Amino acid sequence: MRLAALPRFPLAQLPTPLEEAPSLSRVLGDVRVLVKRDDLTGLALGGNKTRKLEYLIGDARARGATVVLTEGPAQSNHCRQTAAAAARAGLRCLLVLNSLEPDPPLQGNLLLDYLFGAEVHLVAERPARRAVLERLAHELEQRHERPYVIPTGGSTPVGAAAYVRAALELAEQLVERGIQASRVYLATSTSGGTHAGLALGAKLLGSPFHVVGVAVEDDALAIRERVTTLASETAALLGLDVRIVPEEIVVDDRSVGPGYGVPSSETLEAILVAARTEGLVLDPVYTGKAMAGLVGQVRRGEVTPGETLVFLHTGGSPALFAQADHLATVLLSGPTGAQ
Ligand SMILES: Cc1ncc(COP(=O)(O)O)c(C=O)c1O
Repeated sequence: MRLAALPRFPLAQLPTPLEEAPSLSRVLGDVRVLVKRDDLTGLALGGNKTRKLEYLIGDARARGATVVLTEGPAQSNHCRQTAAAAARAGLRCLLVLNSLEPDPPLQGNLLLDYLFGAEVHLVAERPARRAVLERLAHELEQRHERPYVIPTGGSTPVGAAAYVRAALELAEQLVERGIQASRVYLATSTSGGTHAGLALGAKLLGSPFHVVGVAVEDDALAIRERVTTLASETAALLGLDVRIVPEEIVVDDRSVGPGYGVPSSETLEAILVAARTEGLVLDPVYTGKAMAGLVGQVRRGEVTPGETLVFLHTGGSPALFAQADHLATVLLSGPTGAQ
């Protein structure tokens, strides 16, 4: 495998801890839950993008980039971490963010984008992002800068390669501790890099665990296709003779709720359960929905009693503060019955 040959700019505290979650396990019933703490990757409040950015910034530097550009919603975790990674690497950072509000509140991830010195360009709608990104990159080239464009979520084969490595890291931790986990749950999306890398890594290892992507936005079919394609492209980049077909990619879309970025009552309940059993901070956009997916599968009896489950905590905590209003309605309305 050509993973070690990829340029890498160290940013993450690795390996991330693999922690038992005994109180959460007890609340759920006859399962053992462990949490893989990729919220503790260490860069700018942590999260899954730190691993990807090690390889993306490594690639940018190897290509002589002077500036990185990327895109996302105004509360993008990926953009926040890219801004921090660029600052560390001494690169300029331009972000194209979509927001229907002309002046979105300066809080959560957006606040941090400015804190890390990123140059922020706002557009109203998501589809408008790409053209602005390309125009900015073109203008930079004309000024003899060397732009490096990172697509949404850092989900290129270079970015996804980081999660092949994460799969190996997790498998090693499980083996060292003599634990056989049957499923690994994570938040997945049409960006798909984390899911693609993990699924490829698991397949490479002979599938010691099933990777369960819990969709955070509609269109499970599109997510499955995207993850499959990206996993194949990543296999090619790494010189792996491993093929992934769509049927192998598991996407559970029953916890999407009202749509991307909007929590359902199950999302809020999952956030409370994780907080009040294990002191974990989940977010309303990604990890809250992923945990709701895990809880839902256990409660519906889709998980066999005695199974060991791993929850991949991919970070995202700044969005919790940006969506304080959603939580306030639950937290200030008296006993929540979360336990
Ligand atoms: C906290 C969090 N979890 C999961 C994801 C999904 O990762 P990916 O973009 O690799 O699909 C994201 C993407 O932004 C994220 O911010």
